[in-house]
Amino acid sequence: LGNLVSMADLSTNAIGNLLDRAEEFKHGAGSRFTQPVYAVNLFFENSTRTHTSFEMAERKLGLNILPFDPSTSSVTKGETLHDTLLTLDAIGANIAVIRHKQNRYYEPLIAGCDLNLGIINAGDGSGEHPSQSLLDLMTIREEFGRFTGLRILICGDIRHSRVARSNAEALGKLGAKVLFAGPQEWFDDSLSDLGEYGDWDELLPTADVVMMLRIQHERGVSNDHFDPEAYAAKYGLTVQRALHMKQGAIIMHPGPINRGVELASELVQAPNSRFVKQMQNGVYVRMAMIERICLDRHLGGLS
Ligand code: CP
Repeated sequence: LGNLVSMADLSTNAIGNLLDRAEEFKHGAGSRFTQPVYAVNLFFENSTRTHTSFEMAERKLGLNILPFDPSTSSVTKGETLHDTLLTLDAIGANIAVIRHKQNRYYEPLIAGCDLNLGIINAGDGSGEHPSQSLLDLMTIREEFGRFTGLRILICGDIRHSRVARSNAEALGKLGAKVLFAGPQEWFDDSLSDLGEYGDWDELLPTADVVMMLRIQHERGVSNDHFDPEAYAAKYGLTVQRALHMKQGAIIMHPGPINRGVELASELVQAPNSRFVKQMQNGVYVRMAMIERICLDRHLGGLS
């Protein structure tokens, strides 16, 4: 593989192997690295979970982390993403974990063939978020032991969601039925091959997994006419609405949560919420992703 930028690049076998390895890490497997590997995390969009989780994964694997802060870097002087990576590559970075607002920012970097470092996509605009998808898959597999036949309902700002896109891509491939709900104007027809759009209140009692999404004001949903209370009443997972969930169904949310908007505050850590578990699993899937790229690139003494 060499880079990990899209769930579309991963076969069902490759996904299964990454999840198996993540489970091994979760149950105490140690790092197999015998030679130094240098990682750099470039977050051009804000992040709490993904950034710290990748850094924790790198530290647990024993990688050396080069500091990089876009606001104090030469990006502020106009240096391009390509030239930034050319620089880090020349200095000796082996792995670059990148979050960027531009969809598919990674394509010219990979196509250029002048970079030796491996790229892991930590989120590109409204494109993809493969590490989030893998941690969601790990959490679902831990809960149900399978994907085939599960009904996964994704509700909210679908159009701007890289989480929805990556998950729909992966879950469909793994045999789950993907359903979408939320304001119709926020549904994206390009996703209709990956799942069915339907009525939120009708679909809710049929779902095994209810995945709520944040409204992404930073990607174009106007704040001016947005009424959080009206949204919560119509499309939020409220305490009242959650009573209609199927027995054994779970609530998921990639975070950050707008409490009281898409998800009632009382449900964030409810017994059937897996929000905290998702974040815990994130560290282990990211360890598995980094190890996979290092294996593919013969880094760190791995074979
Ligand atoms: N889920 C997620 O990507 O969260 P952060 O933006 O905090 O990294």
